Amino acid sequence: MTKDMKDIVALCKRRGFIFPASDIYGGLNGFWDYGPLGTELKNNLRDRWWKDMVITPPIGPDGAPIEIVGVDSSIIQNPRCWEASGHIGGFNDPMVDCKESKKRYRADHVVVYLPKDGEGVAVSFDKDAEDDEIEKRLKKLTKKTPADFETAKLDQVDVAKFANIIGPDVKEAGTLTEPRQFNMMFHTYVGAAAGDENKAYLRPETCAGIFLNFKNVVDSSRVKVPFGIAQVGKAFRNEVTPRNFVFRSREFEQMELEWFCEEEDVPMWFDFWVEQRTNFWLSLGLPKSSLHFLDVPKDDLAHYSSRTIDVEYQFPFAAPDFDELEGIAHRGCFDLTQHAEFSGQKLDYFDQPNNRRFVPHVIEPSTGLTRGVLALLCEAYTVDENRPSGVYMNFHPSMAPKKAAILPLTAKEDHVPTAQKLYMDLRDEFVVDLDIKQNIGKRYARQDEIGTPYCFTIDNDTLADGTVTVRERNTMSQERIHLDKVKDFLREKIKG
Ligand code: GAP
Repeated sequence: MTKDMKDIVALCKRRGFIFPASDIYGGLNGFWDYGPLGTELKNNLRDRWWKDMVITPPIGPDGAPIEIVGVDSSIIQNPRCWEASGHIGGFNDPMVDCKESKKRYRADHVVVYLPKDGEGVAVSFDKDAEDDEIEKRLKKLTKKTPADFETAKLDQVDVAKFANIIGPDVKEAGTLTEPRQFNMMFHTYVGAAAGDENKAYLRPETCAGIFLNFKNVVDSSRVKVPFGIAQVGKAFRNEVTPRNFVFRSREFEQMELEWFCEEEDVPMWFDFWVEQRTNFWLSLGLPKSSLHFLDVPKDDLAHYSSRTIDVEYQFPFAAPDFDELEGIAHRGCFDLTQHAEFSGQKLDYFDQPNNRRFVPHVIEPSTGLTRGVLALLCEAYTVDENRPSGVYMNFHPSMAPKKAAILPLTAKEDHVPTAQKLYMDLRDEFVVDLDIKQNIGKRYARQDEIGTPYCFTIDNDTLADGTVTVRERNTMSQERIHLDKVKDFLREKIKG
């Protein structure tokens, strides 16, 4: 069954996963707040990534664990950093304004239907427009069918033809301006004076802080190439068209690894990281059939990359197509070389056994933490008309915000103290919910909607023989286990 983003967004708000930022003031486009459950979910994904990268990094091709250390760098850095990285000259998207609708579009996000016979107007659409919407609008504006047109992205259409194009939100041709570059970095001023000399930027990606600390890390720890430096944190981009819930936001979080290796080993490590990252997503419950790997065409590569594979997920707004979840890029030695040049510092590596200096190459698996949360939410959302909630969140138990709920069957005195005791016993190790009020059906429904994998119900039999009912979220099946076994049961089920 196809999943509807509207339903997912509504559940996220209703149950406290994600709210629009500044909700009481009408929101702010491109900004989101994580509620009690969304914060747990995001922390679970972040912690799992950190564990897999920094605490227990994968076993390398030689059978020994590889070496990765973590950093947590400043969001605002010396602005020279962004000159070196290419973001102050190049972090631009070609933008087109519509004089009539006053809307601004990324030129590569607008698809133009150009008449094959060259006769009549061309009509443009948002790249996510549905087929039936396109067909209807083409018919209305041109009396032709989609087969009468060929398509091109607006940034690939000759500007001379713009006068003949109807913009995505208007009815007359000739209202789109020529594409202009737009810098996506947010800026601020450091200190009291608001002049150009005090201008600074919010980082548009977290990796820069890793490159800036390359020398500090090498000098202060015992890492040897090949090794990695990992970082999780906020990034900011003044996206022109934030869209699809948290998919493209203006403030978001990234989890980035910069893997420093010898140039000749790049192909081996590139494949290694594609495999590792794929296994990561599979182990969290994203099925292989919902993932797609895009070898990014040369023309679409970022300025620093000679090869990038995007791990794409079948987000409901893209289905049956896929959209980017993570990028694995070969960044060459671009960043260290640039920062060395702009800072005047040596950013190379001394290989003691071979007595030689070199600038390592970099493989970068870069994933959006908040985009990953969206993928987990979309994957988990499961319509089931046979249960009172009509829907449940099928999170992998290790990602579920609450691992279990403890439900006294009634609010009667004898059930509640036993439930409280179990809650106190479990909460040191697991995030658990003690839910006392309402009838049991409503409480199960709530736990289904927030994706709690197990509910333990305390009833009269518990008082008699010390057993509780365990209800499994997906199957709704129930079994009884002894109170003494609950901890081991959860440990076993929740293993990542
Ligand atoms: N350091 C490389 C880099 O930042 P990117 O492809 O621009 O590469 C990496 O971003 C990941 O960050 C993307 O795959 C996506 O998951 C996430 N991301 C990028 N822009 C985002 C946005 N506006 N909102 C949410 N996530 C975003």
